[in-house]
Amino acid sequence: MFMDVIRLPHRTEDLAPRQIQKVNRLRRPLIDDRGSRQHATNRRVKRAMADGLVAAGVTGVLDWGCGYHPLRPYLPRDVALVGVDIDPEVVAENRRLGLECYDPEDAALQYADRPPSALVSVFVFHFRLPTAHIAAMAELVGTDGFLLANVYRRDEQSRGRLVTAFRERGLQVTREKDPTEAATGHEFWFLARPRVTGNLADKVLHTVLRGMA
Ligand SMILES: C[S@@+](CC[C@H](N)C(=O)[O-])C[C@H]1O[C@@H](n2cnc3c(N)ncnc32)[C@H](O)[C@@H]1O
Repeated sequence: MFMDVIRLPHRTEDLAPRQIQKVNRLRRPLIDDRGSRQHATNRRVKRAMADGLVAAGVTGVLDWGCGYHPLRPYLPRDVALVGVDIDPEVVAENRRLGLECYDPEDAALQYADRPPSALVSVFVFHFRLPTAHIAAMAELVGTDGFLLANVYRRDEQSRGRLVTAFRERGLQVTREKDPTEAATGHEFWFLARPRVTGNLADKVLHTVLRGMA
């Protein structure tokens, strides 16, 4: 039987890539186990976030930090999905299963000529996001796209620093608390240029919250 809690010696945002890789290996069977609490929460959050993407009318999605459980099963088949992950084993496994997937260092270049309508980051923003990754995400969001993420674990100061880093790259961050508290301090973030935010942030975030209820 697997322990259903992974205890970490550091804040998740202080973990180095190799430590993240170990967490990935430990977490995989928990999410795969259909009877586990993690599986149920993961499913509920993913379904709600996918609903938010569909409400925005996306045609192509980049799953940033797709892990061993990308968003594919939650999106309609006619929505194209590609991935990015910092863990080389995750990248290799997704490619083996037919999902185009790259390391964050290669993402901007690989996807520049076919930017997705949206980026999604599910259970990723509690990890450290290097400046280069924030820059790549902002570039791929471009002038017309958006990024939908969920955030937990980080304290308010750390969230504030992340908001500033994205704002410096031209993205406005709209935050909504998860009323069901699927995780402690759990929030959904919509990030985009101000014009897209004005048109879409409320629609997408309210759809996500409805899906969580
Ligand atoms: C908790 S898992 C979530 C996986 C998947 N999104 C899900 O919800 O099942 C976090 C994933 O993000 C990846 N990751 C962590 N930091 C990252 C970064 N800065 N850029 C890209 N991927 C990252 C990890 O390797 C891991 O696969």
